Amino acid sequence: MTLDYRNAHLLLDSSSIQEGSVTWRSPSNLALIKYWGKHGQQLPRNPSISITLQEAYTLTRLSFRRREGVPSSAISLHLQFNGHPEPAFAERMSRFLDTLTEIFPFLRQLELDLDTVNSFPHSSGIASSASAMSALALCLCTLEQRFFGTLENREDFLRKASYIARLGSGSACRSVYPVIAAWGRHGSLDGSSDEYAIPAAHLAHPSFHTLRNTILIVSSKSKAVSSSAGHTLMDQHPYASVRYAQASQRLGQLLPVLRQGDWESFGQIVEDEALTLHALMMASRPSFVLMQPQSLSLIARIRQFRKETGHPVCFSLDAGPNLHVLYPEAASAPVEAFLREQCLPLCEQGAFIADRAGQGPSEE
Ligand code: PMV
Repeated sequence: MTLDYRNAHLLLDSSSIQEGSVTWRSPSNLALIKYWGKHGQQLPRNPSISITLQEAYTLTRLSFRRREGVPSSAISLHLQFNGHPEPAFAERMSRFLDTLTEIFPFLRQLELDLDTVNSFPHSSGIASSASAMSALALCLCTLEQRFFGTLENREDFLRKASYIARLGSGSACRSVYPVIAAWGRHGSLDGSSDEYAIPAAHLAHPSFHTLRNTILIVSSKSKAVSSSAGHTLMDQHPYASVRYAQASQRLGQLLPVLRQGDWESFGQIVEDEALTLHALMMASRPSFVLMQPQSLSLIARIRQFRKETGHPVCFSLDAGPNLHVLYPEAASAPVEAFLREQCLPLCEQGAFIADRAGQGPSEE
């Protein structure tokens, strides 16, 4: 069954509109099984599952006041990013909000101000669309609830926020749930859907709830090829169908591993996934390489350290050269000493972000 959130009744009585604001803090997430390839309106070609981060987040305040005159079909939005106007980002957000006017018709009745701040440096190479889009989606659903009382039930609220976040940036739909979230239909995940993510923390062993994720910054430059261009290249990819089947299969393998707290198998699956993502990029036409020499050196060092010490540490990669190093809290002392001594010297000016599995978004 597909969800249809269009609702022409969500209109305000103009004379009663007061000014106000809503603020959400929402985190980024790291996919363990990757979403790469889409169709329709940001629908995934395969299911994915991710760790919700804690320290890499976006803080978004959406302020509103009555819009004078007859509302046009376009949204009226003013945007500040880290305290400054950011025309390209403002354009993307406006276009996104314009696509939502059948779901939130009241948006056309308001003057909107969006103030958004990232906890991580703008150019840290960390994808900010998941945190930014989920924060905005949560603000929009809160406005709906405040004006119309239609989303009182927490489950309905988060489901709608996840659905809206997905329309903004696919992977953003997973950021609305704490610790672990899954997106995309899968036979072993009850209630899973291509249209929104579902919470999955309860499926994981407690040792994954305190997972550490240190992000090693190899390069802070923006990516040469955007995620959306990469998704598009999957449409003609020679390995596409095998890849989509493999992702589902790996998700099926990961679920018992998460349940049992089997960090060794976890590392195998997560590393296979990260390298498969980059192999798909290299085998696209045109091909592209996002890893850098330091990414490969870091991978070699992490594997060597694991072999020598037996500590359950592994790596993942997003669509970029930076390494996400994953390990249980119990191993943090030796792993972090190793990262400081052997890995940070290979990072861009020694840059890293000490992150972990997080508690999900919060209304501020
Ligand atoms: O949500 P997008 O369109 O930015 O794509 C995200 C793609 C990956 O980060 C590489 C994988 C994922 O599942 O998050």
